[in-house]
Amino acid sequence: MSNNIVRNTSAITVTNLNKTVVTQEGELTILNGINIEVKQGDSIAILGPSGSGKSTLLGLLAALDTPTTGEIVLDGVALSGLNEEQKAALRKQKVSFIFQSFMLVDTLTALENVMLPAELAGVKDAKQKAQAMLERVGLSHRLNHLPKQLSGGEQQRVAIARAFICEPKVLFADEPTGNLDSVNGDKIADMLFALNQESDTTLVLVTHDLHLAQRCARQLVMENGHLSEPAANQSNTTQAADGKVAEVS
Ligand SMILES: Nc1ncnc2c1ncn2[C@@H]1O[C@H](COP(=O)(O)OP(=O)(O)O)[C@@H](O)[C@H]1O
Ligand SMILES: [Mg+2]
Repeated sequence: MSNNIVRNTSAITVTNLNKTVVTQEGELTILNGINIEVKQGDSIAILGPSGSGKSTLLGLLAALDTPTTGEIVLDGVALSGLNEEQKAALRKQKVSFIFQSFMLVDTLTALENVMLPAELAGVKDAKQKAQAMLERVGLSHRLNHLPKQLSGGEQQRVAIARAFICEPKVLFADEPTGNLDSVNGDKIADMLFALNQESDTTLVLVTHDLHLAQRCARQLVMENGHLSEPAANQSNTTQAADGKVAEVS
């Protein structure tokens, strides 16, 4: 993997990214000429209508999918130079992903689902850590439930606990508060930003929740496969020392 090391301080650098798929109706361009730079410890929200390409972009950034053309450099590693095995190793080492559809393992309990990545990473006290994480998301009374025995919001909180357990360098979350009531949504947002502050975890969130988006240092808008950063974002947003957005207009 050493050949792919690119020295910079970016968490993510995206250059001229395109994603085209072949459908029965012909070629469909999902992402068209995306460029972004995200610094380590930054927090960005990606907004935009349904079907505009947000989830596709997140999957590419997390090395879960392959672009048609363009380059992604994740924490100094150019993804184009990696085979599937190396990409899996990179994900395990640096990335967590909260999926829109949760992707919990059906046959494992809430506790076992959260323990899984910690066990794979060789963490010794995986069970205690998983228990503590489930407590933080308010699910200590649901440790032994299977996903199908949990509500949508509870499954989402299990997925969040699972994503947090290994303190990733970059956390990708696809509508992490989409199934939560406002109290639980605020609690999860507080956890996301605590992780951002305490562990310098870079956050890349896709969200329709404007309140959550405003808490991010930057807001980007996806429209029809094009990503833009509103000018107001760049000039009027000042990031305070504590990482919170002081003013967004
Ligand atoms: N593998 C695929 N094959 C065909 N169409 C796809 C595929 N993946 C995504 N799409 C289409 O691309 C568009 C963008 O999808 P997606 O990234 O999921 O959007 P968003 O997350 O913004 O709602 C949608 O119209 C979707 O139907
Ligand atoms: Mg989506």
